[in-house]
Amino acid sequence: MKKSKTSFFCQHCGYMSPKWLGKCPSCNGWNCFAEELVADTNSGSRAEMKFDGKPIPIEEIPAEEGARTATGIAEIDRVLGGGIVGGSAILIGGEPGIGKSTLLLQMMQNLAAKGLKVLYVSGEESASQIKLRSRRVGASAKDLLVLVEVSLEKILEHIKAVNPAFVVIDSIQTVYSADLMSAPGSVGQVREASSRLILFSKKHGIPVFLIGHVTKDGSIAGPKVLEHMVDTVLYFEGDSGHAYRIIRGMKNRFGPTNEIGVFEMQEKGLKEVPNPSAFFLAERPQNVAGSVVVPSLEGTRPILVEIQALVSPTNLGMPRRTAIGVDHNRVSLLVAVLDKICGLHLSGSDIFINVAGGIRVEEPAVDLGIVAAIASSFLDRPIDARTVVLGEVGLTGEVRAISQMDVRIKEAARLGFNRCIVPKSNISLPGSVPKMEVNAIHSLKELLENLF
Ligand code: TYD
Ligand code: MG
Repeated sequence: MKKSKTSFFCQHCGYMSPKWLGKCPSCNGWNCFAEELVADTNSGSRAEMKFDGKPIPIEEIPAEEGARTATGIAEIDRVLGGGIVGGSAILIGGEPGIGKSTLLLQMMQNLAAKGLKVLYVSGEESASQIKLRSRRVGASAKDLLVLVEVSLEKILEHIKAVNPAFVVIDSIQTVYSADLMSAPGSVGQVREASSRLILFSKKHGIPVFLIGHVTKDGSIAGPKVLEHMVDTVLYFEGDSGHAYRIIRGMKNRFGPTNEIGVFEMQEKGLKEVPNPSAFFLAERPQNVAGSVVVPSLEGTRPILVEIQALVSPTNLGMPRRTAIGVDHNRVSLLVAVLDKICGLHLSGSDIFINVAGGIRVEEPAVDLGIVAAIASSFLDRPIDARTVVLGEVGLTGEVRAISQMDVRIKEAARLGFNRCIVPKSNISLPGSVPKMEVNAIHSLKELLENLF
């Protein structure tokens, strides 16, 4: 009898090794290798999936941009870059319970209501559980077909028979191929199932949505490999303590990345939040020290966020620096600059930074906001409630230019702010926005003079 071949796979990143290893050389994870049977690549199951392509001059390839289908949910369409591209594979990651199944069901209902046939394959819930959810979100289109199945071969057969316009696999970790002996959810299975589904979708031009669970360290469970295989990766973020949910494009072969869509989880499913700035500023305290508003840019969209700081005397030898929603190292750097350049003696204080609402802001344009909030709390002097600050801060205390000033300032003006503190070096100083006072500054020293 032919001996079946096995290999060891890292369950985090998919790295393959012929022997067991304690530490993964690729992702440096410990104790994450599991033995899996490797499929015989010569077997017939893969042959049918091959493209029968031949080389053609690039000139003669028809450009089919425009074959996009809008989902009808504006927040999603923007993240996708205008709609779903034919034959694309879209991975949607997120923690359990965040609302992935709900979102996909609502999207598919929208598409099915337009008369497009949709196949929703679930390996996680029974048909009646899906029915219960569909009642809540009002999904009842007759072209929305539900299939409860985990076998990859059967799923592919059903897709062929139904010939839908869109396929959803909820979730990719439950799909399992009889060709492989390893357990469902293992890297080998997930990779095999995704690659065959993706090949199928490319060959037949059917867009496929793969739902993927995210582990607690934030990566899509097991396979980082999945992210390389698909065209688009969307992450569904949010906080169980908050009702809002953010869908963020991490990779997109057909559109922008870093675009976000904002939703609120309600009794009847996810609802779009068309005006996120107002949403994130809703509970802002007035005239208290340690709070400032920053017009941050998420993709192409300006969103006003409130940055809060609390500076309090420490009881510890080593003061605490805690940052939620902004980069921790960035905060340490800014605290050092404030200490050295502006003479605020922060070394005896614990410093806590929080972005209200639980949203994450990554860009350096919020530096000035972090500095302003810390200074305000340390000096115990409130910042004017209708002032926004923005700018990047350098190590010598200089305030550096940022991009797309205009859209940010317009958004601030729209929400009733009437003064902005911005970098002097910015080429496009906001001049055209009515009723907005502009204070352009060079350095952190000037910031403190302007603020208080
Ligand atoms: P779900 O889509 O099942 O999450 P996932 O597929 O990402 O695991 O969402 C489950 C959560 O959403 C659950 O805690 C209940 C809540 N929910 C609502 O608040 N309103 C609704 O209308 C629905 C359908 C779910
Ligand atoms: Mg689910």
